[in-house]
Amino acid sequence: MNRVVGIISLLALISCGGPSESSQENKAKEENILTHSFARPAEAQVNHLNLIATVDFDQRQLKASAIYDIETASDAKRIVFDIRNLTIEKVFVDSAETKDWWIGPEVPFLGQPLEVAIAPNTKQVRIDYSTTEGAEALQWLNPQQTAGKVHPFLFTQSQAILARTWIPCQDSPGIRYTYEATVTVPSGLMAVMSASNPTAIDSSGVYHFTMNQPIPSYLMALAVGDLEFRKVGESTGVYAEPSMVQATAFEFEDMQKMLESAEKIYGKYAWDQYDVLVLPPSFPFGGMENPRLTFATPTILAGDKSLTALVAHELAHSWSGNLVTNRTWDDFWLNEGFTVYFERRIMEDVYGTAYADMLTMLGKQDLDMELKALTDKPEDTHLKLDLLGRNPDDGMTNIAYEKGYFFLRTIEEYVGREKFDQFLNEHFASNAFQTITTEEFLTHLKEDLLLNDQAQYAALKIDEWVYGPGLPENCISVSSALFDQVNKQVELFLSAEGNANAIDTIDWTTHQWLHFLRHLPGDVGASKLKDLDQRFALTKSGNSEIAAEWFLRAIENDYAAANDEIESFLIRVGRRKFLMPMYSALAKADPTLERACAIYAQARPNYHSVSTNSLDELLEFDSNGQTAK
Ligand code: BES
Ligand code: ZN
Repeated sequence: MNRVVGIISLLALISCGGPSESSQENKAKEENILTHSFARPAEAQVNHLNLIATVDFDQRQLKASAIYDIETASDAKRIVFDIRNLTIEKVFVDSAETKDWWIGPEVPFLGQPLEVAIAPNTKQVRIDYSTTEGAEALQWLNPQQTAGKVHPFLFTQSQAILARTWIPCQDSPGIRYTYEATVTVPSGLMAVMSASNPTAIDSSGVYHFTMNQPIPSYLMALAVGDLEFRKVGESTGVYAEPSMVQATAFEFEDMQKMLESAEKIYGKYAWDQYDVLVLPPSFPFGGMENPRLTFATPTILAGDKSLTALVAHELAHSWSGNLVTNRTWDDFWLNEGFTVYFERRIMEDVYGTAYADMLTMLGKQDLDMELKALTDKPEDTHLKLDLLGRNPDDGMTNIAYEKGYFFLRTIEEYVGREKFDQFLNEHFASNAFQTITTEEFLTHLKEDLLLNDQAQYAALKIDEWVYGPGLPENCISVSSALFDQVNKQVELFLSAEGNANAIDTIDWTTHQWLHFLRHLPGDVGASKLKDLDQRFALTKSGNSEIAAEWFLRAIENDYAAANDEIESFLIRVGRRKFLMPMYSALAKADPTLERACAIYAQARPNYHSVSTNSLDELLEFDSNGQTAK
């Protein structure tokens, strides 16, 4: 489809898609929307949220009213919201306070249903509530945990099912709504959301936001702190603490180019402005694709722009994920696999094929490791998951990202890039602001890309990719000339006469270093590491990816000279992707867990619940942070 037609059909869909579907259609969809939500959208569904909130840093609490415009079926009797660890104070139906509301029993990690009695002609429901200490989406930071050390900081992380811990909502990726918000914060701080944002601090402390495009609840986001905005390009910019904003703007200088490249490939950016907010280092993820405002870890500020594929990734979610959304968390690969594919297309377009090939090779290594780790759980290596009764977090592995990526690359190579791009363009345009299931995507693929050619469908082994374990044998193979050079140096370094001074690392990029470090054998030995460290000062590396990989080798080989840096890294950084392998390596090196637990006990107060939930399990801590050891 050409661009103009694409945009027109996109606009048509905005005005007639979503909640105005007949309630029968809604009912049919309801069943598979609801795997991780108590909502009953076929009976009553939210359309628009007006959130009025006050941020209280002293109490570490949000006090708020969530006022929802709703749409009801002709026989609607109730509307159901998801809540978890919220205190519900009052409920109003069409402006009149009601006592006809109930909170159902608690289900592990899902929380509770909040049911409000309504009539078929009810238009609005207002819930007055406050958050509690159990709000897992929120991380409250004291000034010491920020770059500036003077002001406190708050940020949210709603994906996958944590939005319900800070807003009562219909918390399913299959339910979309628009929103506006008024947020009051202490004077001198700035509030930003996944919405239209201020570009300067307002001394009143009151900020207004609008998100005019319908989004699912997992994309609700708020951050409050001493923030400054810096424009990067025509419709791109960065937010960070004042002491970091200059470095952030430099690191992400290519954002506008990335945005233009993305638009060239998959059509117009649907969200007007694209900014990145760099958070304090306890942010548990690399990045989170909150619409209009990606949240990102400061660990990608390497000083040389070498870790900005993450920005391309979160930007790519503006199409895959935010515009066309997985209907349930079982379809998570539709969000992440597509996004990794798109991320690498953007990186290829902006930095060239050799660069993108390195990213792909590292991705393949991640995939191979994940497949190995999941040997005993083959069903978790399917693209389509079955997470009913499980925490969606269980399904958020490299399978969705990298097996998803290789599936799409395999199709691309089979049909040719031009045809595949055309198909994907049409896919984003015709499903804009809607959700899709894996099955709907496969039907679309079969009919519109493969033109119902059974032989092609079979040759591509599509069902095996999606519903089978492991990696099908028709997976494309990948290579990188730049990594081949590294392999030679690994060999040389490990050979009898090899040493750190003999190897040629001139002009190596971050990715080549990662490849090198990943290919040192697990038992390379502390003396070889010392040799490398003396020449390349890897223990002191300011590049978080290189440092984290290096620390793994150091732990495995008991290279004690890195111990102090390992500890201070684990205490400062809260990014789960780094923490899990490092603590696992510590646990493996010392099965008594003594060393791992000693560091963790110190570091834990700095981590977000997303990270502590995973680490408590690994290190046998209870949810109050007490060790069994
Ligand atoms: N949407 C994800 C982060 C996420 C996934 C949060 C599941 C909660 C549950 C985000 O787009 C992402 O994939 N981030 C990656 C970086 C990316 C470059 C692979 C991360 O944080 O490591
Ligand atoms: Zn992602």
